[in-house]
Amino acid sequence: MKKLNVVLFHFLCLPIFILFYSNVNAQTYGKNGMVVSDNVLASKVGIDVLKKGGNAIDASIATAFALAVTHPEAGNIGGGGFIVLMKSDGNVTTFDFREKAPLKATPDLFQDADGNLIEGSNHETIKAVGVPGTVAGLYLAHQKYGSLPWPDLVQPAVDLAENGFPMTWGLYQVALRMSELDDAYDIMKNYFRNTEGSVVQPGETWKQPALAKTLSLIRDKGHDGFYKGEVAEEIEAYMKAKGGIITKEDLAKYSAIERKPLKGSYKDFEIYSMAPPSSGGVALIEMMNLMELADLKKIEFNSTTYVHLVAEAMRRAFADRAEHLGDPDFNPELPLDMLTTKEFAKMRFDHIDMSKASLSDTSRYGQLYDGSSTTHFSVVDKDGNAVSLTYTLEHSYGVKMGSSKLGFIFNNEMGDFNPVAGVTNSRGQIGSNPNLIAPEKRMLSSMTPTIVAKDGRPFLIIGSPGGRTIINTVFQTVLNVLEYDMRIDKAIEAMKIHHQWFPDEIRYERHLLSPDTRDALELMGHKLRPVNNLGVLMGISYDPKLGVYIGASDSASKDGGAVGY
Ligand code: DON
Repeated sequence: MKKLNVVLFHFLCLPIFILFYSNVNAQTYGKNGMVVSDNVLASKVGIDVLKKGGNAIDASIATAFALAVTHPEAGNIGGGGFIVLMKSDGNVTTFDFREKAPLKATPDLFQDADGNLIEGSNHETIKAVGVPGTVAGLYLAHQKYGSLPWPDLVQPAVDLAENGFPMTWGLYQVALRMSELDDAYDIMKNYFRNTEGSVVQPGETWKQPALAKTLSLIRDKGHDGFYKGEVAEEIEAYMKAKGGIITKEDLAKYSAIERKPLKGSYKDFEIYSMAPPSSGGVALIEMMNLMELADLKKIEFNSTTYVHLVAEAMRRAFADRAEHLGDPDFNPELPLDMLTTKEFAKMRFDHIDMSKASLSDTSRYGQLYDGSSTTHFSVVDKDGNAVSLTYTLEHSYGVKMGSSKLGFIFNNEMGDFNPVAGVTNSRGQIGSNPNLIAPEKRMLSSMTPTIVAKDGRPFLIIGSPGGRTIINTVFQTVLNVLEYDMRIDKAIEAMKIHHQWFPDEIRYERHLLSPDTRDALELMGHKLRPVNNLGVLMGISYDPKLGVYIGASDSASKDGGAVGY
């Protein structure tokens, strides 16, 4: 009998396991809808919602909750993010559910007595946690544009947490590392363990009962299930015990905001992206405007001239980002109209010397800190409603702390604020005013959920994790599709570079830039740094000839997948 079970496991379960977890990174087609996310189980949850008659917002809510279970390094209820929604009537709106600084936060929260940044304190301590926004954002989006009942959209995540799902190789590698953390990281240390206390093995069912309970409160009580009642009580109790500053009042006061999208254009295409408190849309539009001025038909993709021009565009956009941007609710004079105009891009373009690298200047701005995990997904439904959603815990598994009674991990998003006023250095720390810490302020983000439209309908839905590299990987993928005519999967996989003003260097994907090109760029004065990968892009494009959507998940995603129908 035992033998029969083993045989049955291999013949039945293993193919199912492989089917579920094969990363569908080549193109996938869908006529009636598509979901592309960092975890194929979560993409499937979204597609099931579409098949039941839900719209793209419904599918996004279900996918986001599912990712909080199946992709917990960034999928979350303890973090925040942004939605860009294009409705089938062509109107575009966005939702801002970025975390906020707690009421007790002060500008010197992460400084020593001499006013210097205490290294690591803005990322690795309990004070690095911002007031989470995800549940509020998803709930608000549902109230405004959802069609299926809220509980039906949270239930699949409850099921995944309660009944479990097979541990993947991708998660398992992290599980081994996390299980070795010290006691300060209480929840993380035990996160991937089974009831016997050992790390769940690949293929073994991994259950998260505490998270299932928290999710069922959210299912039953909506927004208030997280921001009031027993969850809020436990968050406050946990914060008090650990020396954190978030209180029930912070949670009760949190609200997500529907904001106007930022709109730009590139040739015949309209670009819609996230406005501040994300810097993504502003920088993307500035760089696309700048590229429109170049004769790209004569500049070969991946050539020395291409890398130089793209890096110089990035250098300028990142300087402007750092100097000007922050939470619009605290900076009423943000010069968005200036930064996103064609005239401004012309002025920036005219100062590029095509024969040599510009110098980043420490009297101007830039930013150092890079997180290591966020997640993006793209959704489209049969009516042409499209959602581009990026959300994050900032670092991989955020601050790696959280109440084991609640089963979810807190973000460390406070690290995205400028930590010391006036201190800007060549390592990349920024001290400009718009992004200093203040109670209830949202920290500046680089998340760039984007929808490119053509003739009033979604043409490209795209986004990525990667800290400040997000802006640049989204920028290059959009350019690859719009200008270099690459199919979405090719555009996602193509060589990417990253320049962020400070540090003054071009990061490039190892092995994808030829030695000759590297030599030529160095002769022009660029400093080069190889990195293993840039971006984990999740995209959908529309093929007008075939009348279908093409979805592609980046091969850098361990468990990601595009599912269409
Ligand atoms: O909002 C931001 O820009 C960052 N907290 C995102 C962090 C991130 O993307 C890390 N991911 N790989």
